[in-house]
Amino acid sequence: MNFKKDFPIFENKNIAYLDSGATAQKPKMVIDRIEKFYENSNANPHRGAYSLSIEATFQYEATREKIAKFINAKSHEEIIFSKNASESLNLIAYSYGLDNLKKDDDVVISIMEHHSNLVPWQFVTQKTGSNLKYMYINDQFEISENEIKEKITDNTKIVGITHVSNVTGTINNVKEIIKYAHKKGAVVIVDASQSIPHMKIDVQDLGADFLVFSGHKMLAPLGIGVLYGKKELLNKMKPFLMGGDMIEYVYEQKTTFASLPNKFEAGTQNVEGVVGLGAAIDYIESIGYDKIYEHDKELVEYAREKLEKLDYLDLYMTPNRENHSAVISFNIKGVHPHDVASILDSMGVCVRSGNHCAQPLMRFLGIDSTCRASFYIYNTKEDVDKLVMAIEKAYKMFEKYIQK
Ligand code: ALA
Repeated sequence: MNFKKDFPIFENKNIAYLDSGATAQKPKMVIDRIEKFYENSNANPHRGAYSLSIEATFQYEATREKIAKFINAKSHEEIIFSKNASESLNLIAYSYGLDNLKKDDDVVISIMEHHSNLVPWQFVTQKTGSNLKYMYINDQFEISENEIKEKITDNTKIVGITHVSNVTGTINNVKEIIKYAHKKGAVVIVDASQSIPHMKIDVQDLGADFLVFSGHKMLAPLGIGVLYGKKELLNKMKPFLMGGDMIEYVYEQKTTFASLPNKFEAGTQNVEGVVGLGAAIDYIESIGYDKIYEHDKELVEYAREKLEKLDYLDLYMTPNRENHSAVISFNIKGVHPHDVASILDSMGVCVRSGNHCAQPLMRFLGIDSTCRASFYIYNTKEDVDKLVMAIEKAYKMFEKYIQK
């Protein structure tokens, strides 16, 4: 199946775009929906009694309902719009973490976390006198059952875990981690930013207490994110940002707050982002996660086979193919990844290079940075072939300088 035709950027740019882990390209359906919103329905939701504002409110709230169904939340009140996954995680750290952690409690996260699910926990544990502990990965780039059981204890109050690593592509067994953490009485936050573009998320089946993602990695516009939280937890939490629309009554010296979900949505929201996210969900559902998963899996398999044959590469991925999503990090031994990425770019191949906002993981792996190819629905085997050709060219260019 060729999904590339649905994405206008590929009519304008002749590239093998292999950086969907950073942000996905947008289908015409999403771009058109945003244009339609501005041409027909633009007004500030929740603010006006006139019909145009009511229309904007309807579109905004209908998308919230759609997202609740999409991830199988019990209620639309459990869906909070944010700027991105980082903001959602900061909201949890400030509004839940600061009020619920006591001195000497443990917060347990994995060494694979993006800085967004790590730095806020450093801040909150330092403020509350609690401890930040890490679940480390084994030589298969996975968190073992032993590691989970050793780190999550009766003293653990919060567990933060990425569903899919943005560096290694490892799919973590979040359902098992949640089950175990709940036995120990901890609350679990799942970062689904790298998983929701590729696989069906069911928050009730997973049992997640909180789950966050960004729209832009799943074909939606930049600047829109989602926080899912169990209603009983969100209800008990204080607001994170204060301002318009999150209040009930404001007096000179005190304020009472709106009920869910408005309590967490201060100020005018990114309505075009919300409407665009709704269109992205429609697009994903028109294909179906089964097909998306199958497509991405086939491509990653193809890429793995080709890259594993290049003995001058270091590959940072699990040998367990069923636990590997659509991300492959690699280095040409002895060559800096930024140099490799520049050569690849000169051949029209877009990969990310750097530490991927995961410096503690890089340090743990004993490296500074990697090149990273990440795949999505519009990629083809030809894109993988271009990647391999470009890596071969880069290797030939640098071969004589590599110290063996
Ligand atoms: N979190 C994004 C990435 O991994 C930006 O590239």
